[in-house]
Amino acid sequence: MPFPKDFFWGAATSSHQVEGGCENDWSRWESSEARFRELEQRGELAHRGYQNFISGSGVDHYNRYKEDIGFAKELGMNMLRISLEWSRIEPHEGQFSEEALAHYVDVVRTMKAQGIEPMVTLWHWPLPLWLADLGGWESPRVVEAFERFTTKVMDALGEDVRYWITLNEPEIYASQSYLDGTWPPQKKSVFVFLSVLLHLLQAHRFAYRVIRSHQPTAQIGIAKNNIWFEAADGKWWNRIVAGVASFFWNDLLLWLTKSTSTFIGINHYFHNRVDGWVNKNKNERVSDLGWELYPEALYHVVTDARKFGKPIIITENGLADARDEQRAWFLEESLRWLEKAVDDGAHVRGYLHWSLLDNFEWAFGYWPEFGLIHVDRKTMERTIRPSARKYQEIIEKQKHPR
Ligand code: FCB
Repeated sequence: MPFPKDFFWGAATSSHQVEGGCENDWSRWESSEARFRELEQRGELAHRGYQNFISGSGVDHYNRYKEDIGFAKELGMNMLRISLEWSRIEPHEGQFSEEALAHYVDVVRTMKAQGIEPMVTLWHWPLPLWLADLGGWESPRVVEAFERFTTKVMDALGEDVRYWITLNEPEIYASQSYLDGTWPPQKKSVFVFLSVLLHLLQAHRFAYRVIRSHQPTAQIGIAKNNIWFEAADGKWWNRIVAGVASFFWNDLLLWLTKSTSTFIGINHYFHNRVDGWVNKNKNERVSDLGWELYPEALYHVVTDARKFGKPIIITENGLADARDEQRAWFLEESLRWLEKAVDDGAHVRGYLHWSLLDNFEWAFGYWPEFGLIHVDRKTMERTIRPSARKYQEIIEKQKHPR
């Protein structure tokens, strides 16, 4: 396999999804009356139970991070992506918790002591309550707040962390929360959507400057959710629709952040076979969430991103597969296609599987199980899944080629 010797093999998590005990705009939304009614009306409560939809104690990663980092080490990983919980670090406007910052310092130092490079995401969706009450990403004040938050974080973590993601999938967040209206704060307005995106872009630029001024060699990017839009056939209109969709969905934000990024972070889950306005995926294999499993798509999003002329890190890629029936196959195939992309000149620096642990999958709650490691939420007991052993084997072969 042509992966470079210093390739990063790892996994990703995010604070709200694993830590437990988060008090932010998401946790408030989860337990709101409106959310309860909505789930009840859709029959979800009867079907899955209310607790499925409450992040609550998470998978107790906040307390068990040492054990979890130990698993990553055992599996041969040399990078872990985590996110910082803004609501812990700045529980009240302008008041920073030294305790929370010290916690994250300990997390990244624990990784480093095990030979694991930390990649830290500044913002992976939830907001502190005070900020949500000011209007969250709708308010221009959020940009200044994010800059101040980044400065504090750099003071605490700047010496230990070299890889930074400023924002996780700003486009998914903005569209789910402000176009679709399915995520908090559940608005539906093109105008608000655009202004949220603008603030996210501004926040990224400021954060980039703050990080760079603390640490001139820091590696900085956003984690962008890229989709392979494939024309279902050779018809010119399908090729045009696929190209236009790809430009607006995949490329635009990456062009706009190119001069303020040192690498391209790609989260990849989806493939769309474009036939007119319809998605004609064959869905021969699907995950527990019904998302098509199509490993070849990773090759296309990665080779397409060569045009940005920056190193690429796969910051997320994975599947909900509670019975672990498809994950080993998916991992092997995805890495085979990634290898081909490297062979074809893509400068790929790492692959981070989503996710290290089973976790809280946003509006779906706990039932989709994305973890290489299964977590029993009653006992919080961790079990390494067979597919994770497969991943370990692949990683080991890379490190000790015959
Ligand atoms: C991505 C999110 C991540 C996780 C996966 C399944 O869009 O960044 O937090 O929920 O999807």
